[in-house]
Amino acid sequence: MPTPDGPGDLLVVGAGVIGLATAWRVAARGATVTVADPAPGSGACHVAAGMLTPVSEVTYGEEPLLRLGLASRDRYPAFVAELEEVSGRRTGYRGDGVLQVAFDSDDLAFLEELRRFQQSLGLTVEALSGRECRRLEPMLAPSVRGGLLAAEDGSIDPRRLTAALLAAVEKEGVRIVRRRATHLLVEHDRAAGVRLEDGEELRADMVLLAAGAWSSDLQGLPEGVVPQVRPVKGQVLRLRSKIPFLERTTRGVVRGSSIYLVPREDGELVVGATQEEMGFDTTVTAGGLWQLLRDARELLPGVTELEFTEVSAGLRPGSPDNAPVLGASALPGLFLATGHFRNGVLLTPITADVMAEILVDGTVPPEAAPFTADRFAGEARA
Ligand code: GLY
Repeated sequence: MPTPDGPGDLLVVGAGVIGLATAWRVAARGATVTVADPAPGSGACHVAAGMLTPVSEVTYGEEPLLRLGLASRDRYPAFVAELEEVSGRRTGYRGDGVLQVAFDSDDLAFLEELRRFQQSLGLTVEALSGRECRRLEPMLAPSVRGGLLAAEDGSIDPRRLTAALLAAVEKEGVRIVRRRATHLLVEHDRAAGVRLEDGEELRADMVLLAAGAWSSDLQGLPEGVVPQVRPVKGQVLRLRSKIPFLERTTRGVVRGSSIYLVPREDGELVVGATQEEMGFDTTVTAGGLWQLLRDARELLPGVTELEFTEVSAGLRPGSPDNAPVLGASALPGLFLATGHFRNGVLLTPITADVMAEILVDGTVPPEAAPFTADRFAGEARA
């Protein structure tokens, strides 16, 4: 709660990219900030590939989310420059375009429809023949039928991003408490802090819930204050190449199913992702890996020659309408930055900026207005 003396204290529950970036921005505005998380950076951002693809992943009926995603993508260069300077760490940010390719003629028809939709929204995408796709990415299979290039989409390495954010918040004086927050403390009808797993209480003027898929789990949340956030599992595998395998992030549609491959400068290639509504299950399954490898090999036969390094499964936080929930809750003192679903990494810069404005100035910037929690009034439950 802003006071005449400056911003009040902030306690952030969750040290993923959303919680850390918001802590960084708010601490830079002069607030005393504490972040509680038993394992900072170990949630969805540890598994995420880090695509910055508002154009490539635009979805029917989600135009407000597209605008938020475009605005966040466009903040990335300045956000990364500042973060890398402050933290002294690289983030692996790339803004060099994303190619989307079609495996068969039905997939090509899907991309053609997508291009019409993108262009109807004023988005810039270039339609490419199969040969033009292979000129950009020589490892693509000769059978690839064609594609779309979204020249302004890009990627970042979420693990490096998290490490840089942790370094930046520590430089800003943010206290990181490596314990789980289990209960919300409510006093005089407002949030007053949290109780940790060992019983210690952390008190603050404002509590920000940024706990990803675990955001509905805090005990003591009054009924109806936090929209249900569900975990949506994604299995991802990591490969390594000694020589550059892909020039840029390449998405594919293979017999109607989507796959993406995100190359890093150090030779890592991240292949993702399944999308499964399985509750809090992070089992890696043979079927999930088979689906990813099968589709990756259809598009890029040479992928089977690469070194296998890691497989993991993460939990995306899905709100009831799959869009983020940003701003005040119905409980005074409790704020929400959660429900980012497939877009947590993309939406990190804008979430941090709008949340800082909401928490420090007490005003809701126009970008955040479509995403406030009151859109679920009547259906929200803790
Ligand atoms: N943003 C890509 C995914 O969630 O799989």
